[in-house]
Amino acid sequence: MFDVVLKNAKLFLDGEVREAELAITDGRISKIAKDIRADDILDARGSLVLPGVVDVHVHFRDPGMTHKEDWYSGSSAAAAGGVTTVVDHPNTTPPTTTLKSFRVKLKAARKSIVDFGINAGVVEGAQLETLWRAGITAFGEIYMAESMGKMCVDDDALSNALKTIAQLGGIACIHAEDERVIKERTRKLVGKTDPSVYSASRPNESEKDAIAKAIRFANTARCKLHICHISTREGLRFMSKNVTCEVAPHHLLLTEKDWNRLGSLGKVNPPLRSEEDKRALWAGLQNRIGIIASDHAPHILEEKEQDIWSAPPGVPGVETSLPLMLHAVKAGHISLQCLVGRMAINPARVFGLNGKGDIKVGNDADLVFIDPKDVKPIKAENMHSKAGWTPFEGMHAIFPKMTMVRGAIVYDGEVVGEKGYGRFIPGRGRQIYI
Ligand code: DOR
Ligand code: ZN
Repeated sequence: MFDVVLKNAKLFLDGEVREAELAITDGRISKIAKDIRADDILDARGSLVLPGVVDVHVHFRDPGMTHKEDWYSGSSAAAAGGVTTVVDHPNTTPPTTTLKSFRVKLKAARKSIVDFGINAGVVEGAQLETLWRAGITAFGEIYMAESMGKMCVDDDALSNALKTIAQLGGIACIHAEDERVIKERTRKLVGKTDPSVYSASRPNESEKDAIAKAIRFANTARCKLHICHISTREGLRFMSKNVTCEVAPHHLLLTEKDWNRLGSLGKVNPPLRSEEDKRALWAGLQNRIGIIASDHAPHILEEKEQDIWSAPPGVPGVETSLPLMLHAVKAGHISLQCLVGRMAINPARVFGLNGKGDIKVGNDADLVFIDPKDVKPIKAENMHSKAGWTPFEGMHAIFPKMTMVRGAIVYDGEVVGEKGYGRFIPGRGRQIYI
């Protein structure tokens, strides 16, 4: 009757950890009960079983920059980090701004071993309505300042895009940095070579101004707004019921103090911030911050080891986000409920990824198996991303023992998922089947 029944596991169910058995049929959770009769048993003794992580912010670089990452390497890193669904962002080459480029991305994603959504890029001339009907997850990230990929929009383009997105009923994801503030500050820092000046070139004020503007435009357009990778205490104050946001582990765990250790490797947009900002972000996880997403943005060492102004912005993170946050649970910084809410339940709910994000009957059997006692230091050599390095080198983490996507084991200490097993999860607007 069931394909397999998990026995002896502790499951995260309805906000608490309980001993129960879980049956899987055709990749879905078909029953949760005390004692389920079964022919095929998976003994999960000693494991804590959580819903697979839904990471709504990754840059898998494929098509176009596959020396940094491709859908197989990126999704392998995801699986090894307990991430069972990713949402890929549009600054690839070509950018995902037309139906044609969306098709190219879907084809590239046929290498994925985890399930995925795809976001549409917002630039002038982008086919927003068509992409929405084709099933993209959300719009953006929309760049208010130059970052990776030359996809910046000006005020008019932003406000027009928000009107269209509102009409469609979609969500606008904003990379909130203000171009004017950045240009002005950067001009004053020309000639300086200490990597830490990068934080000064994109100050808190830049995020604050950009969020204020995005909210103003979104209110006029009546558009649903999501702020990507929030990084400042000033930015946080704008968050409310109507504006969702995500935080990245690098802003929770690294600060300007890490410039010394990381040099240009620490360059990321928005940049590393102060201890005070970091504290505000941890506090924000209790209320205003509903989502943790990695902003996995791999670049290879050769690219990153340049002077601070020439190095590309971005750090890898899809494989380390759950392990680092599980360690934060162990250290008492957040609760397990908070972690599962921010990393699985909320991202699936906010972005309409049906069947994902929670352990309940009818949902996909996307599960991650943990041994909470198994603390290890992070080592670049164990990572699966093509980046080949991590900003979290040496930090303590709890890596999954096993990861399951729709009932199939994709990682069990080794990556065992079949290339192409991952499925496209269409967004709320899908009407065109391509
Ligand atoms: O640091 C960043 N890198 N910030 C972004 O917004 C883009 C990302 C990338 O794609 O490398
Ligand atoms: Zn961004």
